Amino acid sequence: MSIKNNEKTIKEWWNSASEYYQNEISGDRMVDVQYGPFGSNEKKLKLLGEVKGKKILEIGCGAGQAAISLAKKGAICTGIDISPNQIKFAKKNAEKEKVTVKFLELPFSSLNTLKSRKFNIVLAIMSLQYCVNMADLLKNVKNLLVKDGIFIFSIESPFYLVMDPRDLKIKESYFNVGLKRKREKWPDGSIHYFMYYDRKISDIINLIIDSGLKIEKVLEPLDKEDNVWGKGYRRALVNKIAPTIIFVCKNKN
Ligand SMILES: C[S@@+](CC[C@H](N)C(=O)[O-])C[C@H]1O[C@@H](n2cnc3c(N)ncnc32)[C@H](O)[C@@H]1O
Repeated sequence: MSIKNNEKTIKEWWNSASEYYQNEISGDRMVDVQYGPFGSNEKKLKLLGEVKGKKILEIGCGAGQAAISLAKKGAICTGIDISPNQIKFAKKNAEKEKVTVKFLELPFSSLNTLKSRKFNIVLAIMSLQYCVNMADLLKNVKNLLVKDGIFIFSIESPFYLVMDPRDLKIKESYFNVGLKRKREKWPDGSIHYFMYYDRKISDIINLIIDSGLKIEKVLEPLDKEDNVWGKGYRRALVNKIAPTIIFVCKNKN
């Protein structure tokens, strides 16, 4: 399947799942950036520094909770997402919270169309596991950043994903990377295809190095509680492997 077809399937899934995801999982978390399941928040991790007046782009923004929380702190935010339904939620959220954020329906593969603009920070929260071409994405992100601009992204930890949360045994090979496609039958009987990409940690690190971005920090935080994404995670496994991994990168030139 081509990049466009894979993106189309991913877009369809997120469009169909958007309402459930926003109402049941993603929640109302527009006071701070939450980095991922049990992955802590900006208040504790302090990865972004002072954001007032900074130009921030959130990619795969969903309903824009992170961008909105940063706009409330005075940042000039743009959010992009492939799913028009997610973008609709984002626009509604911004209206509700009385902040201005520019939300655009745009896939990762078209990030270069923003190239006339430069950002101090690019943020991707739990969205790059759906990125079809990570090498291109990283190069485009680098081009969108000012010198010394930062790129922070969080994903589900590849170590966590190989484990079975029920019996804590390894359920699949860590080396089984690439596109994963799962057929799902929803309660209303409709069929959906959930697609995402598994990558080894070393693959991700090497892709970052190849893009010219510099890795500043890698974090595997573990919060005691998670009232946002937490209910889908089994504590017994969470205690052994942090579900969220965060990469902090810088554009040095
Ligand atoms: C797990 S959600 C995370 C959303 C948001 N960052 C949050 O913290 O709730 C993943 C998001 O990535 C978006 N996404 C997936 N593939 C994409 C692509 N190719 N281009 C842009 N957005 C994409 C989905 O539509 C979805 O909103």
